[in-house]
Amino acid sequence: MGRFPASFTWGTSTSAYQIEGAFDEDGKGPSIWDEFVRRPGTIVDGSTGDVACDHYHRWAQDVRLLAELGVDAYRFSVSWPRVIPDGRGQTNPAGVGFYDRLVDALLDVGVEPVVTLYHWDLPLALAERGGWPSRDTAEVFARYASVMADALGDRVRRWITINEPWVVAERGYVYGDKAPGRRNDGPAALATAHHLLLGHGLATEAIAAERPEAQVGITLNLSPVVAASNHPLDIEAARRLDGDLNRWYLDPLYGRGYPDDVVADRRADRWLGAGGLDAFVRPHDMETIAAPTGFLGVNYYERTIARDPATPVPPEVVADDAARTAMGWESYPDGLRELLGRLRDDYGPSSILVTENGASYPDGPGPDGRIHDERRSRFIDEHIDAVGAAIAEGVPVDGYFVWSLLDNFEWAFGYTQRFGIVWVDFATLERIPKDSYVRYRDRIAAERRTR
Ligand code: FCB
Repeated sequence: MGRFPASFTWGTSTSAYQIEGAFDEDGKGPSIWDEFVRRPGTIVDGSTGDVACDHYHRWAQDVRLLAELGVDAYRFSVSWPRVIPDGRGQTNPAGVGFYDRLVDALLDVGVEPVVTLYHWDLPLALAERGGWPSRDTAEVFARYASVMADALGDRVRRWITINEPWVVAERGYVYGDKAPGRRNDGPAALATAHHLLLGHGLATEAIAAERPEAQVGITLNLSPVVAASNHPLDIEAARRLDGDLNRWYLDPLYGRGYPDDVVADRRADRWLGAGGLDAFVRPHDMETIAAPTGFLGVNYYERTIARDPATPVPPEVVADDAARTAMGWESYPDGLRELLGRLRDDYGPSSILVTENGASYPDGPGPDGRIHDERRSRFIDEHIDAVGAAIAEGVPVDGYFVWSLLDNFEWAFGYTQRFGIVWVDFATLERIPKDSYVRYRDRIAAERRTR
């Protein structure tokens, strides 16, 4: 305790498609997720985000939950097709009005709105014109950013352009378990990743043009990668995975262009053809992508163990009793400290916000009606300790946001994975704060007293 500066931001995160519902109300256009969830077999429980947590109607109650939690900030995302139904044309005043009221209500209770512009719900009309593999999407994204900066920028100071470009590119175009659900299309994934980074750079400029005082950043899903053994093949697997997940995004954002070794990997696996990066990189793109930002957003859930399938030795790095969450993800708080230190050493961001960290556990109401989610409380506490340790080592971490305020629609897992510190009964939509909500509230209060 006592390691967190007075200006440190304690927060919690959500995203539009996962909580809002009201998928076709008040002029909202369809997104790629509205279409994807309707394809048979894509969502494990056959559910959709049509209603989700019904936050679109229950937002006032959710703002009260945030106020009572005592957080400094709330990170939410704007649904692009709610504010610009076809992504590029007319603005929908009802859609903007929703976020306008939400921002006012947050400020009324002393909670800073931190706004993500793209948390995966691309307007379907843009997907029909090519989606992120098409360069045009980056340009219309910047226009949308400018519309939002104009509408909310008098009250919103911190903006996140894109959430997790790796997930959008590779889960959307290679694994296919996330919208738009294309599989094994490496070239489209690489073009998508580039246009997301370009969109981030263009949006950063667009927001600055509207609101010079705004702080803009991008949120990456990052993970420290360790080789499962010192076998050369495992070490090589670790290099490749680190390149794919971390360096492919960090290097260009910090002005180094795409990393040569990963470019070579991509030629070898034919994600890049004979023309190489010229397939999508145009003059000045790399400068646009490297535009100075206010902060780097980091989502951290677990470390990555790299193992080549051909190595003879079984992985020994993960202890057999490694605590795993319901997602099967390892709870490894020290990975967050390591990751933050590496970012400081290799990239030197002026400010880092941990924009997501949290855990899925199924614990529900017990006989006393309360939710004793001790494992989640411990997970959050230990990761806050890791952030404190990084700060003590000189890393400029300025905020920590728990994923998530509410149990919500966990993408392909539907409602089967609960990340909330507030329980949501998806039949009645009732909210019940879990023990972890109380623990996080008390931890924030305790950290403030020791400042
Ligand atoms: C992140 C996403 C977020 C949520 C958590 C569990 O990758 O940004 O929406 O799904 O994982």
